[in-house]
Amino acid sequence: MPATIVVGAQWGDEGKGKIVDLLAGEHDWVVRYQGGANAGHSVVHDGRTIVLHLVPSGILREGKRCVIGNGVVVDPAALVKELDDLAALGVRAEGRLYLSAHAHLILPYHRLAEREREDGPEAVGTTRRGIGPAYEDKAARAGVRAGDLVDPEALALGIERVRARAVARLESAADFPDAEQVTKETLALGQRIVPLLADTRALVWDALARGERVLLEGAQGTLLDVDHGTYPYVTSSHTVAGGALTGAGLGPRHVTRVVGVAKAYATRVGNGPFPTELTEEMGTRIREVGDEYGATTGRPRRCGWIDAAALRYAGRVNGLDEMVITKLDVLDGLERIAIGVGYRGPHGTSEHFDPDARWLAQAEPVYEWHEGWRTVTRGVRRPEDLPEKARRYLARVSEFSGVPVSRVSVGPEREATLPFFHEGHPLL
Ligand code: IMP
Repeated sequence: MPATIVVGAQWGDEGKGKIVDLLAGEHDWVVRYQGGANAGHSVVHDGRTIVLHLVPSGILREGKRCVIGNGVVVDPAALVKELDDLAALGVRAEGRLYLSAHAHLILPYHRLAEREREDGPEAVGTTRRGIGPAYEDKAARAGVRAGDLVDPEALALGIERVRARAVARLESAADFPDAEQVTKETLALGQRIVPLLADTRALVWDALARGERVLLEGAQGTLLDVDHGTYPYVTSSHTVAGGALTGAGLGPRHVTRVVGVAKAYATRVGNGPFPTELTEEMGTRIREVGDEYGATTGRPRRCGWIDAAALRYAGRVNGLDEMVITKLDVLDGLERIAIGVGYRGPHGTSEHFDPDARWLAQAEPVYEWHEGWRTVTRGVRRPEDLPEKARRYLARVSEFSGVPVSRVSVGPEREATLPFFHEGHPLL
């Protein structure tokens, strides 16, 4: 009953889409378990880059079945648009894509509520997709679920309830669309969505019982988890491996492998502490070479050196078996490269990453400097052709974080992901 979890080990945008696409080849099912259209998973398909927000990237591989699990929050308009975009590329999702009837819906009120809050002094720098307010209504037992789309009366009541809650809390509520109008629009979108509805837990259990392989695809990253991230500068869901269990309806014994994905450097979008951030020339260089602009919002990402202490934390909080390092080629040609190996704070130096935002905001990074490899890794297709200094860099990240690096990626193409083993690697 093998299930594999793929999680981001940093602040999202680690290149999970590409790794999931690659691993999807060895799995029968791909399951999204949290987040919503705040995610943007870029995958290169037939030479074209496609950004998927809700539909698991496994949909691009023929024959794979995909699930949007109960832990996801679904914007009906965003889902229908994605189905249309896929159809335009010749990919038919219907018949291979199942949506949990228990996934909550994001309504226009959620987006409007978020806009008001994000325009205020306590902005988190969210994607403004209504993610947080939708999860708030879910936790308050006041939300609307995808399964309500088959019951117009219950849907109308639910939409009225969500509107009333938003109106009660907000100043800008006067211009909110009325519930009747939103119900009409939601029902119209529902015509495309209802055929996807399923008891996705049972689908996944039965698949596992038949010995089929299931890949659980995380969105965002460990350090954005609502409990284990840099709260309050986090997303509103459980991005860590534990979230895969609740967000899909599985027990821990189903999971046989947990894969973390991290970039060879670090990025963050939105507000919040980022100890290894580079605010000057080097940060700009990494942003330009790495094309570090949000796949969903187009926002420039904050860039910095890799933080191996934070990766060690990610290794422990997710129980990572292995880590894939992406975008190594972005560091090609640099004279010196730093690895964050701890923090200097008001109470001394520590190798331990504590996600407490107040503590982290005061923490100065402790760096270990490595000579750069000054050659081009982009285009390398065999691990033995990687420059020795690049291999040593990866080995050090692996050693410090305590997580074996199983693969490294040096470009966007499928063939640009090479095997790499830290322990006992013959090339080191
Ligand atoms: P939200 O998920 O839109 O509520 O945003 C909360 C925080 O998570 C903000 O800092 C966002 O920039 C960040 N975030 C949300 N989704 C992603 C993602 O897919 N990649 C990177 N950061 C994200």
